[in-house]
Amino acid sequence: MARILAIGTATLDLIFTLARYPDEDAELRASGLCISPGGNAANTLIVLGQLGHTCAFGGVLADGPEATPILERLARHQIDLTACRAVRGRPPTSCVLLSLEGGSRTIVHYRDLPEYSGDDFGRIDLASFDWVHFEARDGPETVRMIRRLRESRPDLPCSVEVEKPRPGIEAVFADAMLLIFSRAYAGHRGFDAPHPFLLRMREQAPHADLIVTWGKEGAYGLDSRGAIHHSPAYPPVEVKDTLGAGDTFNAGLIDAYLKSLGLAEALSQACRLSGKKCGQIGLEGLAGKGR
Ligand code: ADP
Ligand code: FRU
Repeated sequence: MARILAIGTATLDLIFTLARYPDEDAELRASGLCISPGGNAANTLIVLGQLGHTCAFGGVLADGPEATPILERLARHQIDLTACRAVRGRPPTSCVLLSLEGGSRTIVHYRDLPEYSGDDFGRIDLASFDWVHFEARDGPETVRMIRRLRESRPDLPCSVEVEKPRPGIEAVFADAMLLIFSRAYAGHRGFDAPHPFLLRMREQAPHADLIVTWGKEGAYGLDSRGAIHHSPAYPPVEVKDTLGAGDTFNAGLIDAYLKSLGLAEALSQACRLSGKKCGQIGLEGLAGKGR
């Protein structure tokens, strides 16, 4: 199994379950409240750990009391935190509204921590890693990290998740090996269909395999030979919680690439795993057979 480093965030999620998404200025009672650690990179590592990989996290960790559940979760999953930078303050916190009616998850973020930087990344000993995954956040700093990776370990495969538009983020596209875009990012770039979006991204990323997730429609990929692949979603019997579906998808995809499965099979494995996640609350117990 592989040693995987992921750079990004670890958050505290306050997850309210509601019968349906509320109107503005409404007052309503939630049917459930779960206070749970999250964050894209942390979530992806939690799932990769379950798939048998050895995981390390690089991010900014707050030292305030609210951060305790985050640290406990990462420790429970044996995620190496040597690459993290500790700062005073409270962790990034998200208010998540889960709608039972639509299966949607609406997220409001609060963050006042500094971003993990190229200098932080520069202190990591990359020698022992088999894969590096970046949650693309600060554009120029992510560019510095990937350039450094290319200089010191040109053989080391890396993936980049591009979930939101961020200033300067397009500059990372040329150096990544696997780019995973969200449907929301495609929307921000003016696309409402996956194929034209992927073809346009190809102009900025001539070498990478390009993926875009498309919620209930599954995911699409454009390989380096120009072929487009699609996997449908694998809907669970009952959609219980879609929070972290994308992070789970990323873990399934990275695992498939590490096993040298082709892009089509990688998409299918990632959609299967993220579909399974949607049928359960949280991210525990995702490995193993069955949907
Ligand atoms: P995010 O969690 O980042 O918003 P998406 O909504 O695009 O990501 O979902 C990522 C993947 O999770 C999709 O490609 C799909 O395979 C799976 N998925 C998402 N929603 C569902 C659903 N309702 N049923 C089954 N699979 C889903
Ligand atoms: C889910 C998630 C949440 C977190 C938010 C950060 O994908 O990682 O756990 O609050 O997204 O963007």
